Amino acid sequence: MSSIPSKQKALEIASFGDPLKGCLRLNTDAPVPQPGKDQVLVKMRYSCLNPADVFTVMGVYPGVPAVVENKPGFVGGMEGMGVVVAQGEGASLKVGTRVVPLLPNAGAWQQYVVVDAARCVPVPDGVEDKAAAQLVVNPLTVIGMLDEVERHTAVKDNPWIVQTAANSTLGRMLIQAAKGRGLRTINVVRSAATRDELKKLGADEVIVLAEEKDVPKRVHHITGGKGAIAALDAVGGEVGTAVVASLAPKGLFLGYGLQSGQPTQVNNSDLFVKEITVRGFWVAKWIAHQQASVFQDVFKMMEQKHMYPQVEKEYTLDQYQEAFRAQFKPDRRGKILFHVDA
Ligand SMILES: NC(=O)c1ccc[n+]([C@@H]2O[C@H](COP(=O)([O-])OP(=O)(O)OC[C@H]3O[C@@H](n4cnc5c(N)ncnc54)[C@H](OP(=O)(O)O)[C@@H]3O)[C@@H](O)[C@H]2O)c1
Repeated sequence: MSSIPSKQKALEIASFGDPLKGCLRLNTDAPVPQPGKDQVLVKMRYSCLNPADVFTVMGVYPGVPAVVENKPGFVGGMEGMGVVVAQGEGASLKVGTRVVPLLPNAGAWQQYVVVDAARCVPVPDGVEDKAAAQLVVNPLTVIGMLDEVERHTAVKDNPWIVQTAANSTLGRMLIQAAKGRGLRTINVVRSAATRDELKKLGADEVIVLAEEKDVPKRVHHITGGKGAIAALDAVGGEVGTAVVASLAPKGLFLGYGLQSGQPTQVNNSDLFVKEITVRGFWVAKWIAHQQASVFQDVFKMMEQKHMYPQVEKEYTLDQYQEAFRAQFKPDRRGKILFHVDA
């Protein structure tokens, strides 16, 4: 362990609130932990800045116990990847193995993490670091939601699904994965800036909110009067309300994000006449019922470029304020990453 320092940089959530107003603190003197029995020390290479991390900093994300208990003072970051640099007693993962450490719910925004060897997913050679860093949160949500759609709707008769925030990193992957399953996507975005890129990725239709007043009417027109069999919504508010109203009879609405911060409204007649189903999807709950092989499924899709997470830009941990400013800019083309070992 001679080349491993005793101190490291860690981006901590000092208090809950606006990430651009002093809630974050770069600790340059955090201790590097030692791996215990069956554990490994991972030197992080890349970590994500996900919307759920933003909500964690804001103190409103219910998936992190320290948020629920109102106890700031921990290292942020839900996911990332790195390299095993030391083994504790009994840990079989070799030094030098690239891995995705499955962290409890935070801690990826630091240079070194200790994790049980059993909670590390080795990264295959064909998957690049920046894609591997995004293994868990978004790709599994894409797979989980599409599984739900296939299981609970008549996609064989009506293959049209509508999604909001379609230009998000997740939305772009959903376009690719849905196409691979023979589904057709109607993609709702705020501006026309990325329309052509989404079409190139495989989007069948793109609805630009700045140009379209009546989303349900347009969806019904595209689908030959049927409506979409499923609506996947990360926005809520007016946009979520518009895609609920775009559903076909027996359609499924999955709410999975809070981008507008506003509630979605459902017309009661859509519930009792069209018999639509309205519920949510949360990967944190879904993953508890999955086999470990789901990670290999995602890696395979990444290797074959059937579902590939794009990157807008990478920042060092020291540049965290710029990273958060970039996260809040519209029309990004993918994820903001921390290049932790730069
Ligand atoms: N429930 C779950 O288990 C789960 C798991 C993973 C992700 N998610 C959610 O999935 C969504 C996408 O995640 P990501 O990592 O792909 O996000 P991302 O790359 O950071 O993209 C965020 C997207 O949100 C859009 N957006 C931001 N504010 C908006 C507003 N007020 N109205 C409409 N759109 C707005 C942006 O639109 P522009 O392109 O126009 O800028 C952008 O496309 C997030 O809401 C995230 O919380 C949920």
